Amino acid sequence: MAPPSEGPRRPALLVAGTAAAIAAAPAAILAALAAFDRIPHTAAAWLALGVAAAGVLAGLIWYRDLVRLSRALDRAEAGRPPDDLPRLPPLRRVAEAADRLASSIRAQGQEVDRLSRAAVRIVEGLPDPLIVLDREGRPVTLNAAAREAFTPPGASVPDLGALLRHPALRAAVDRAAAGGPSESVAVTLPVPVERELVVQVIGLDPPLPDGGRILLVLSDRTRERRIEQMRADFIANANHELRTPLASLMGFIETLRGPAADDPEAQARFLGIMAEQAQRMSRLIEDMLSLSRIEMSEHTPPRGSADLAALVRRTAEALEPRVAARRMRIELAVADGVRPILADPDQLAQVVANLLDNAVKYGREGGRIGVRLASTPASGARPAGITLAVSDDGPGIPRQHIPRLTERFYRVDAARSRAIGGTGLGLAIVKHILNRHRGSLEIASEEGKGSTFTVWLPATEPERG
Ligand SMILES: Nc1ncnc2c1ncn2[C@@H]1O[C@H](COP(=O)(O)OP(=O)(O)OP(=O)(O)O)[C@@H](O)[C@H]1O
Ligand SMILES: [Mg+2]
Repeated sequence: MAPPSEGPRRPALLVAGTAAAIAAAPAAILAALAAFDRIPHTAAAWLALGVAAAGVLAGLIWYRDLVRLSRALDRAEAGRPPDDLPRLPPLRRVAEAADRLASSIRAQGQEVDRLSRAAVRIVEGLPDPLIVLDREGRPVTLNAAAREAFTPPGASVPDLGALLRHPALRAAVDRAAAGGPSESVAVTLPVPVERELVVQVIGLDPPLPDGGRILLVLSDRTRERRIEQMRADFIANANHELRTPLASLMGFIETLRGPAADDPEAQARFLGIMAEQAQRMSRLIEDMLSLSRIEMSEHTPPRGSADLAALVRRTAEALEPRVAARRMRIELAVADGVRPILADPDQLAQVVANLLDNAVKYGREGGRIGVRLASTPASGARPAGITLAVSDDGPGIPRQHIPRLTERFYRVDAARSRAIGGTGLGLAIVKHILNRHRGSLEIASEEGKGSTFTVWLPATEPERG
């Protein structure tokens, strides 16, 4: 902004000039009249003096008004209302018009400012990473999603090196900088974790004020790809799991019809195996249906009331024959004051049953199974809850398998699990039920010592009535 001016420079010159301009013609006429003796010389002199005085007065008024106008223009520029308007109507109108013009320009400026701030906020808040490059392909702006996606752990600035060096993307950026149409490029970044991205490359013409010339809109397809892969794996696994017992059943039927047709002893033995295979298929189908039912309800919060203490006791009792058959013992530790919570009781019964079933199946023959149930107070972001820990002193689980145990059909030793009737869906069912209840599952295991599966559930009061 220019420093406020003090009005026209050289006021004396302006006043004298104005006075001269006003008084010159009448003075000349008076001088001519006096020269031709049309009026007396003294009268002419007085009249000329009067005209000169009027000229000086007019010059002063003119000067003061120009000072006021100039001040009014300065104030308009600074966004302040005029305080002392010129007295001459034309100058006053100029000052008023300048004030109105300045306010309207200011209002427009504020609107543009507001719009551009809104645009920045929208771009900043978009869930997809957005990157703006200059003509040479150097990054100019990144939104929050892009900064988050490309800032390596522990670093404070994003690293776009690997992305911008990608040959297909570079070629597309060059084409966009040369005015080419928008295009999308598939980019796979191998580190730190493999990511599959689809990058939309859009040329910006005219360029942005900050030099931005190319817009990159990234969408991460990693998750979708993984889900696709999991779905394909699930179908392949389910197919395989059902096919094996089915093939075995068909084999036995053939044998019973042919070679074993007259061998009652073999028939009895084969029928026993067939019943076992049929049971296995039926369990598998039941588990798959149960899992898909749980998945379908996963986004609806549970209703009902579940008394975990009673559930745990009942499940342990029901397992007693199997526990005894493996010469194991269950040690129950149910803390006082564990109250019923808002939960689907059937689903929680399934969680308890699946964890205890695993402890019996994979625990040490002759070993102990610990079941601890306790309330946990609220801490940090976690509300008050209930913890159920099921531990065994079995062979444990090698560390690399632990993160994958809750995947469908994942088994540490598939042959062994299958031999003891496992389908590999038990922990996947547990995980989905806990997701629905906003709970969590923690698995700790030490090889040779045993495993502990700890469930945490929020202790929400069940609805009454
Ligand atoms: N307490 C445990 N000790 C050692 N390994 C375990 C234990 N619990 C689970 N596992 C391992 O985790 C795998 C997955 O368990 P999950 O309960 O999902 O399937 P499963 O027991 O094989 O079959 P299902 O429970 O459907 O009958 C098991 O196959 C086993 O290898
Ligand atoms: Mg199991």
